[in-house]
Amino acid sequence: MTEKREYRDDYDDKTLYIPGPTEVREDVIEAMTESTFGHRMDRMTDLYTTIVEDTKEFLGTDNDVVILTASGTEFWEASTLNLVDENILVPTCGSFSERHANVAERLGKNVDRLEYEWGDAVKPEDVREALESSDKHYDVVATVMNESSTGVRNPVEEIGDVVAEYPDTYFVVDAVSALGGDYVDIDAHDIDVLFASSQKAFAMPPGLAVCVVSEDAYDREVEKGTSSWYGGFRRTIDYYDRKGQTHSTPAIPIMLAYRKQMKHMLDEGHRARDERHREMMEYVHDWADEHFAMFPEEGYESQTVACIENTRDIDVAATIEQVSEEYDMAFSNGYGSQLGEATFRIGHMGEHTVESIEALTDAIEDVADL
Ligand SMILES: Cc1ncc(COP(=O)(O)O)c(C=O)c1O
Repeated sequence: MTEKREYRDDYDDKTLYIPGPTEVREDVIEAMTESTFGHRMDRMTDLYTTIVEDTKEFLGTDNDVVILTASGTEFWEASTLNLVDENILVPTCGSFSERHANVAERLGKNVDRLEYEWGDAVKPEDVREALESSDKHYDVVATVMNESSTGVRNPVEEIGDVVAEYPDTYFVVDAVSALGGDYVDIDAHDIDVLFASSQKAFAMPPGLAVCVVSEDAYDREVEKGTSSWYGGFRRTIDYYDRKGQTHSTPAIPIMLAYRKQMKHMLDEGHRARDERHREMMEYVHDWADEHFAMFPEEGYESQTVACIENTRDIDVAATIEQVSEEYDMAFSNGYGSQLGEATFRIGHMGEHTVESIEALTDAIEDVADL
C-alpha cells in the first residue's frame, strides 16, 4: 500500500543530469503560463500546425509528424497495433528494447527477439541474417536508437538500409532518448516510424510524444484495417490534414512550451545540436576513461546518455545523494538491479553544454574523492 506523501512548496531545485527529464529553458517554462484557450479554436490550429511543421523542418523530413499528449510509450503500443498482424522482430540489448518486445507480446503478437548482452549494440548483419534465415514474414523490425539503460547507440541508419531490402517489412525506431541530440536522416534510411518523448533531448517538459510516420506506414495501417484509436496514424494524420488539430483535447500548455523550444532548436539546427552533443559525449568519454570506464561496446556510445562502469567500486547511491545535497545536481545510478551499482549514468542532453557537464564531473570528483 502506498501512503500519501503530501507535495510541498519548498523543494530545492536540482540541475538535471539524469537521462530525462532534462533542463528546460526559463522562457520555455514561462510559455506554459498563457491563458487557456479551446482546442477547436483557430488559435489551436495556429499552434498545432506551427509545432508540426517546425518539427518537420528541424528533422528535415518529408514524412508526416504526429504530436500527441502522451509519453513515448504510446508509440510502442500504437506502432505495433497499426502495423503488426502477426510477427515482429525485436533486437533486445537492454531494458527499453526488452520493454518494446514486452508491449508487443501483451498485444498478442508473436515476438522474436534478437538478443544481445546488455552493453552490446545491435548489428545490421545480424538483422539481415535473422530476416533471411527465418521462414516467417515479419511485419515490423523494431530497434531502439539509444538504449538508455546501457548507454548504447545502435546503428539504426544501417539497420534501416537492411530492412529496406524487405519491402513488406516496416522499420520502427524508438528514438526516445536520442532525437534532438543525435542527428538521424529518417527519410534517407527508410525509417517508417520513429518516435521520441518531449522531456529528453528536445529539452521540453514531459507530456508529449512525437512520431514521424512514412507514407508506406500510413498505407500499411489502412490496408491492415485495424489500428490503435488514440495513436492511429490514419486518424491523427487525417485529422491534421482536415483541421490542423488533434483528434482529442491536448495538453495545450506543453504544446506552447514545445513551440517556444522548437524555435530555439531551429535557430541552432539539427546538425549543430548533433555536434554539441558529440562534444559532450567526447568530454564525458575522456573523463570516464581517466577515472572509470565506459560501459557500452566501444564505438557505440550514446551521444545523450553516458553509462559509466563503476570500476573503482564507489558507493554509487551515496555519491548521488551527496552530490544532490551539496551541489543540487541530480545524476542517475545504473538501470535496475543488474546495473544499479555496477554503473552510473549521466544525461548530457538537451540544453547542456560541455561546461555544464564539467560542473557535474567536478562535483563527482570532489564527493567521490577521485
Ligand atoms: C529508450 C527509451 N524508450 C522508451 C522510453 C519510455 O519513454 P516515456 O517514459 O517518455 O514513455 C524511455 C524512457 O526513458 C527510453 O529511454
